[in-house]
Amino acid sequence: MTRTRKTIEDLKRQIEYHNYQYHVLDDPDISDSEYDALFRTLQELEKKHPEWITPDSPTQRVGARPLDEFGNVTHQLRMLSLENAMNEEELRAFDDRIRRGLGIKGDVSYVAEPKLDGLAVELVYEDGLLTTGSTRGDGITGEDITQNLRTVPSIPLGLREGFVPSAGSSPVPPLVEVRGEVFMEKGGFLRLNERRLKKEEPPFANPRNAAAGSLRQLDSSITARRPLRFLCYELGQMEEFSFSTHWKALQEVRAWGLPVSPNIEVKHGVDEVIQYFRKWEEERETLPYGIDGVVVKVDSFVQRERLGIRSRSPRWAIAGKFKAQQATTVVESIEASVGRTGTITPVAHLRAANVGGVMVSRATLHNQDEIDRKDVRIGDTVLVQRAGDVIPEVVKVIRSKRPYRTKRYRLPTACPVCGRKVVRLEEEAAMRCQNVACPAQVRGRIQHFASKLAMDIDGLGTKLVHQMVKTGLVESFANLFYLKLDDVASLERMAEKSARNLISAIDLSRKTTLARFVYGLGIRNVGEHLAWILAREFKTLDALMKADFDRLESIDEVGPIVAESILTFFANEENRKVIQDCLDGGVQLAPPEQRERKAQLSNKTFVFTGALQNFTRQEAQERVRKLGGQASNSLSKKTDYLVAGPGTGTKLKKAGELGIDVLSEEDFLRMIEV
Ligand code: IVH
Repeated sequence: MTRTRKTIEDLKRQIEYHNYQYHVLDDPDISDSEYDALFRTLQELEKKHPEWITPDSPTQRVGARPLDEFGNVTHQLRMLSLENAMNEEELRAFDDRIRRGLGIKGDVSYVAEPKLDGLAVELVYEDGLLTTGSTRGDGITGEDITQNLRTVPSIPLGLREGFVPSAGSSPVPPLVEVRGEVFMEKGGFLRLNERRLKKEEPPFANPRNAAAGSLRQLDSSITARRPLRFLCYELGQMEEFSFSTHWKALQEVRAWGLPVSPNIEVKHGVDEVIQYFRKWEEERETLPYGIDGVVVKVDSFVQRERLGIRSRSPRWAIAGKFKAQQATTVVESIEASVGRTGTITPVAHLRAANVGGVMVSRATLHNQDEIDRKDVRIGDTVLVQRAGDVIPEVVKVIRSKRPYRTKRYRLPTACPVCGRKVVRLEEEAAMRCQNVACPAQVRGRIQHFASKLAMDIDGLGTKLVHQMVKTGLVESFANLFYLKLDDVASLERMAEKSARNLISAIDLSRKTTLARFVYGLGIRNVGEHLAWILAREFKTLDALMKADFDRLESIDEVGPIVAESILTFFANEENRKVIQDCLDGGVQLAPPEQRERKAQLSNKTFVFTGALQNFTRQEAQERVRKLGGQASNSLSKKTDYLVAGPGTGTKLKKAGELGIDVLSEEDFLRMIEV
């Protein structure tokens, strides 16, 4: 083998290893840019030596020609569906049936798994290579979506000989069918929809539809751009191999390099199963992807065999479904709400409805195009859904329940707050009020400036800001630094003590960091992370304000759109005056203490649980990684901190057992303070 050929093989092995660390173990040990560098080197070498490209090379995921239609695949073993249990009683009835069927009085061993909300697929590996990937179809015949599945990063193109700690080395069978779910994470789904709305394409209703739509593309380069993930949960046909239990099979499958959920557990008897069901019903939001129940499977293959299957579903498994996160209710009115950048968002006010345990009385309708597409009218009965920490939304109108004489809804052509004409900018789906002095925008900017991740002014809530702007006490956030105790105390329903607290909170906020201040300015397209990058890069506000387009664009992560937004913001005389007023009002900006902070989190492993208020879980994890720490989904002895929001149970208990420090979200914010 020549040197170059050996380098190619070496690079493939390294990239495969890093894929495994990232997608299967959720424990990457190189940065994204280091990974990209390896990948690019391999691409370059393969370009020079196309004769050495193999189908399992990581470069071969994308690039297949678009298809005219999908072919069919017949599943060797029928792909079954699952019977549902709608509550705990039905789970107990399932356990009774199993024990009766097996003639067992004692506890049966089950494997309990999250029920992933995506699409079932089957992957066939022949001599370790991925040869076919298909949808479930009618269970007997599915569609051949191999090209699309090859683009999903967590699906290995080749299996590797594994090693199971309890069982030793595990060679790969000559043929194995692997079944699992392809789904989209909540964060990726939101970003995808944002991109679609910007391009005036209809957004997907939920992550499941988005995953389905992505897999149904005839052009796999489109699928490749969608944030899809795969987790394996069953085996189909297999040659020269057999396992005694499902649990053992899953360990082995993981050792071959296939991703398996870390949340799968063996449970003895129905009581343990029910505990698991309750735990996940309570903690479902802590996962970055949607689950709609748990799947309970008999662990032993001998017992499965004895129980057998019905026509479409096995007798040995059941899906315990969580309470629905959808409900129908009535649209009582539609409000056009104005955000801090002037965007007008239609919000449906609903007759309060219980959606998966949370009372929902408002839902976003996104924009006029969305209202038109769904034809939502006042008085309509609609299906609403809540997905994770996402704002509830209207999925569809139940047309049969529409009252007589309803009218199509149109957003007002004048701003509902200041009365000025609203415009729809050419490249945007949203309508916008362009009056920067519009009270809604003024309020929004102040609120944003005072928010937790910006200046963190405690006690400055929505109502108070509303009052301050209405009475003319405050016109811009800079005015906050000139407020006197008497001014605040004179506001309606303001107790002297609260006024004093607010003044001292404003005072405390004066000493802040450049990053927080820049974020607080509310520059379009500059979120909290970019503000931090800018602060690190420029160190002083003055330097940032003087930067030109090229200088800004030379920064990693700053593209032309962001650079333009920053320039436009600082070129505006009024903005410059507000900034100067803040500084004259005593605001002091400390440069970022990046090095110490990195050191602070480096080598520390964080796990997040419960509902966080300031970030999605994914954002919190990204933050930890950016500061040099590690983030993981499951607790282990290696975990340093568990950050717990409300709605946690089991993780908290386990952290106690393992002696792991538990932090509140506030503690965490302080720790990462920039
Ligand atoms: S096992 C014979 N395990 O649920 C058992 N299915 O309602 C076949 N699903 O079509 C499926 N998570 O798309 C199994 N951990 C899991 C699952 C799971 C999600 C889906 C799958 C299946 C559907 C049945």
